[in-house]
Amino acid sequence: MMRDQAESLRNMVKSNRSLNFQVISITSGKGGVGKTSFTVNLAYILQKLGKNVLVLDADLALANVDIVLNEKPKYNLLHLLTGEKNINEIIWPSKHGIKFIPAASGFEELANLPKEQQMFILNSLQDIYYNFDIMLIDTSAGISESVINFCLAADKTVVVTTPDPTAVADSYAICRIISNYNTENMELGLIVNMIENEKEADKIFNATNNVIKKFSGRTIKYYGSIRKDEKLSNSIRERYVLTSRYPNAKYSRDVETIAKTLLEGKPPVKKENFWKRIINNWMNFKFD
Ligand SMILES: Nc1ncnc2c1ncn2[C@@H]1O[C@H](COP(=O)(O)OP(=O)(O)OP(=O)(O)O)[C@@H](O)[C@H]1O
Ligand SMILES: [Mg+2]
Repeated sequence: MMRDQAESLRNMVKSNRSLNFQVISITSGKGGVGKTSFTVNLAYILQKLGKNVLVLDADLALANVDIVLNEKPKYNLLHLLTGEKNINEIIWPSKHGIKFIPAASGFEELANLPKEQQMFILNSLQDIYYNFDIMLIDTSAGISESVINFCLAADKTVVVTTPDPTAVADSYAICRIISNYNTENMELGLIVNMIENEKEADKIFNATNNVIKKFSGRTIKYYGSIRKDEKLSNSIRERYVLTSRYPNAKYSRDVETIAKTLLEGKPPVKKENFWKRIINNWMNFKFD
């Protein structure tokens, strides 16, 4: 009897939490535009704002989240895929309390993960999502099937670009592809990183938005911009989390503004949709 009650209580908690849970994918066309540093610093700020955050390193074959967090996790997604560990066992609690699921480094087979295994990873997350408010997915750069699947499964996809014209061109491309598959449920938005001035960022956003509007009839969100900040490069080199050590640095303040914008956005769609979307996307997904 007691057990039954506990069980139903647990289910209630689960279903309540589920309404608040949201998944945010961070991606880019071109590599090296600042996704991983942004993901980790965003996680830190969201946590400071009272959210329980999980980071998934979905740059499957070239793990980076562990490096930015200066951690040496014991297990990673490879252990999950081989069945040696379950999803709970591969969550690594880092120094700042940012929990993350590490990817592996240097395993070519992870770079081209078969659909079933991509599905297996996302499906395993079902066992733990009710412990968190927000899951951030740091993807690899470029247009691969697994990146697109991680983005399509999210409530929000943040495309990161820099003002560099090649990065901007690649971000048009990835926005077009995602909006091509996009269901009504996912919000697509842009961040311009490493800017010298606000005008330059606005111009890039407007141009991208116009291209996507022409192409798909939909608009994208502007999540904001992040100034170029030497302090960030230093933090990566010296292995500390900038937003934690220097909350007033330009970079930290800009990420905090973006964090608030992301939280203010439209209320996340119900959690069940996350899994339904995964299944639907997988069934409909075709590269053409
Ligand atoms: N706002 C910024 N100001 C100054 N330097 C920055 C800024 N954002 C990122 N960088 C620099 O860019 C480098 C690459 O960043 P990061 O590794 O986060 O990019 P990424 O998009 O995750 O790369 P990859 O595509 O390889 O995964 C950082 O080491 C840092 O030196
Ligand atoms: Mg990265």
